[in-house]
Amino acid sequence: MISQSFNIQQPKPKKLTNIKVFPATATFDEVDHAMDQFKVDLGVKCNFCHAPEKDNPRKMDMASDANPVKSIARDMIRMTNEMNQKYIATIKHTESDSTKIQLITCNTCHRGVPKPFGKPLPAPPPPPPGQWQNQGSKANGVVGK
Ligand code: HEC
Ligand code: HEC
Repeated sequence: MISQSFNIQQPKPKKLTNIKVFPATATFDEVDHAMDQFKVDLGVKCNFCHAPEKDNPRKMDMASDANPVKSIARDMIRMTNEMNQKYIATIKHTESDSTKIQLITCNTCHRGVPKPFGKPLPAPPPPPPGQWQNQGSKANGVVGK
């Protein structure tokens, strides 16, 4: 372990260069951890939000804003923070309510997919024959009065 401090090849601590939404005090490791969580919550890879390096398309440029999805993700972080601060944190639980979650995460909505509820809900089953007329006349009655 001590030998490590003499190792001039040791990588420099990684710096954050383009942070607009996370707190200014966030460390690289904290941001990196949040990124792993995004990956799982949305069921995507890093390149879903991040653009490749200009000179080496096989590497990612995490600080670049060239991928428009990154900007959507920034708004999603703002939205999630606002929901937590404005609505969830202020919920007054009753004494008997012991389940106080008080936190919305990306996963609350996304559940492992990039577009929550991306699939349309199945259409309701058609009413049994003969019901259309009844419902129609009821509705007409309401509207007519
Ligand atoms: C859902 C979209 C999304 C995914 C997936 C994602 N990121 Fe990010 N990433 C962002 C956003 C948005 C920011 C900028 C946050 C800000 O502005 O505060 C960011 C910032 C970063 C930064 C900081 C760059 C800098 O210097 O400013 C690093 C490093 C990073 N991401 C790494 C990763 C890695 C590694 C993965 C895959 C494990 C990943 N990201 C997956 C959206 C994403
Ligand atoms: C309140 C529910 C909700 C929360 C919380 C939420 N999202 Fe979303 N998100 C959505 C919905 C709905 C869409 C689809 C919008 C559309 O394209 O019409 C979406 C879309 C996105 C997209 C664009 C996907 C695409 O295919 O274009 C990204 C990226 C994203 N969310 C990232 C995040 C991240 C990161 C978080 C957590 C910081 C988050 N979302 C939290 C509801 C949510």
